[in-house]
Amino acid sequence: MSDLEALKENLLAEVTGAGDEAAIEAVRVNALGKKGSISELLKTLGTMSPEERQTRGAAINALKNDVFAAISARKSDLKDAAIAARLARETVDISLPVRASPAERGRIHPISQIIDEITAIFADMGFSIAEGPDIETDYYNFTALNFPDGHPAREMHDTFFFNPDANGERKVLRTHTSPVQIRTMEAQKPPIRIIIPGKTYRQDSDATHSPMFHQVEGLVVDTKSNVAHMRWILEEFCKAFFEVDDVTMRFRPSFFPFTEPSFEVDIQCDRSSGPIVKFGEGTDWMEILGCGMVHPNVLRAGGLDPDVYQGFAWGMGLDRIAMLKYGMPDLRNFFDADVRWMSHYGFRPLDMPTLFGGLST
Ligand code: DAH
Repeated sequence: MSDLEALKENLLAEVTGAGDEAAIEAVRVNALGKKGSISELLKTLGTMSPEERQTRGAAINALKNDVFAAISARKSDLKDAAIAARLARETVDISLPVRASPAERGRIHPISQIIDEITAIFADMGFSIAEGPDIETDYYNFTALNFPDGHPAREMHDTFFFNPDANGERKVLRTHTSPVQIRTMEAQKPPIRIIIPGKTYRQDSDATHSPMFHQVEGLVVDTKSNVAHMRWILEEFCKAFFEVDDVTMRFRPSFFPFTEPSFEVDIQCDRSSGPIVKFGEGTDWMEILGCGMVHPNVLRAGGLDPDVYQGFAWGMGLDRIAMLKYGMPDLRNFFDADVRWMSHYGFRPLDMPTLFGGLST
């Protein structure tokens, strides 16, 4: 076997043995690259006699062509194989059922929904949100709100008390959101227009009462606010919240230590058709909130001069309103964390309530 035949045999064996595109490229460089075995042979052509060039020269060229063809063929085979392997690896099983995304499956709790709705309504009227702690001092929960020591109104609240601390002071779980009125007056100067959504606590538990429940408080303080302003705001709120064109409201005289005068507000409704109450029509009345003009002692406790400032406030329980608006029969389900109840009564996470887009639809 001539040296050229031996080289060809070797190179073709290497071509067949190359298992991937990198390997065949290495074979090409070794044979046909600048310093490749065939390239070195081609360099000898210039030093050959004309006869030698005709025989050996032609044989070298034939060798080059054969090896080049073999490498090209192997290269394209390996490329096709690589693509086929990748296609096989990356197949998608299109018969799998589509699973809904968390944003589609998750639900917003009706209480969060109601707070978002109320926030949208009052934000539109220029109110902002204020918050305070759930664990309150006796001072903010009662004293600063004009509940004198030993006043029977303290008993009405069925308060959860903590054990006395080193100073003999007993903290409480706040029984209402009203203490945040004082905290806000201490922290900012009028005009004040805030709502205070939050958790509140009383020792009470049945189908319509839970020891932890929710309220929204409202507070407006400036130099001229009066009962007529309060009435307008509450009426506009009720129309927007119950999504009706008109509401009839009834203001009854009442008593709260922190307001003077004080009122309880009833709204006209129709209870004749089951758990979902219709608002703005019918012959029934339902109490929805307490309100009044902020008592001078409360303004004073908040650091404001009652001869300069005046204002009004209201407080509303959210849980019962949510039950009535959305037709849920038992309050206790609200806090059971039952995913079946949530997927039935919950709201879709990306449907944020707005006045222009609709609150609950
Ligand atoms: N804090 C009262 C309660 O929990 C509700 C209330 C009534 C709040 C009248 C007020 C108000 O701000 O003016 O029963």
